[in-house]
Amino acid sequence: MLRVRRPALLVALVVPIVVASAYAGALPAASHSELVSAVPAQDAVVEAPTEVRLTFNEELIQAGSDVSVTDSAGDTTVLVPTYPEPATLTASLPALAAGTASVQWRVVSADGHPIEGVLSFTVVQPEPSPSASVTPTSEQEDPAPSPSPSASAVPISQPQDAAGGIPPWMWVALIAAVVAATAVAVVTSRRR
Ligand code: CU
Repeated sequence: MLRVRRPALLVALVVPIVVASAYAGALPAASHSELVSAVPAQDAVVEAPTEVRLTFNEELIQAGSDVSVTDSAGDTTVLVPTYPEPATLTASLPALAAGTASVQWRVVSADGHPIEGVLSFTVVQPEPSPSASVTPTSEQEDPAPSPSPSASAVPISQPQDAAGGIPPWMWVALIAAVVAATAVAVVTSRRR
């Protein structure tokens, strides 16, 4: 009899607790603001972003927002929030170093509760002039060094863009030197 009663007792105790806690958990979540979308998106790869845009499911209390960005070099900049719409916060970004950047945000929900989060994305530097000038474009290039639409359309897939200024022959020479040094080291160690 005990074997049958105990599980029944357990169920009788646990079910109301689970139901009650789920209900209690759902109540505050429904009244808080939530982040609906972000530009740049979480984990996006973006070229020189100039602005971050956070859109929430309901309007924010505009006082009390706190937004900053930290780039891959570890430089943190406090951002100035603006509200183009009641549920949207935007802020201009400074020039960010290539690599992972994160935006730390804290806003106040319409119900007065603060919510916060971290948005991370990857910044890539636009490819500088050499490859851009090779790109066949019939249109006149803007003489200003600002990235043109055609330049930003060039896919940047290789991870070697950090080494942009080094000509290819120097890499060949460097690799040849490393191979030669390794060969010498192997031969020397075999002779011993
Ligand atoms: Cu709330």
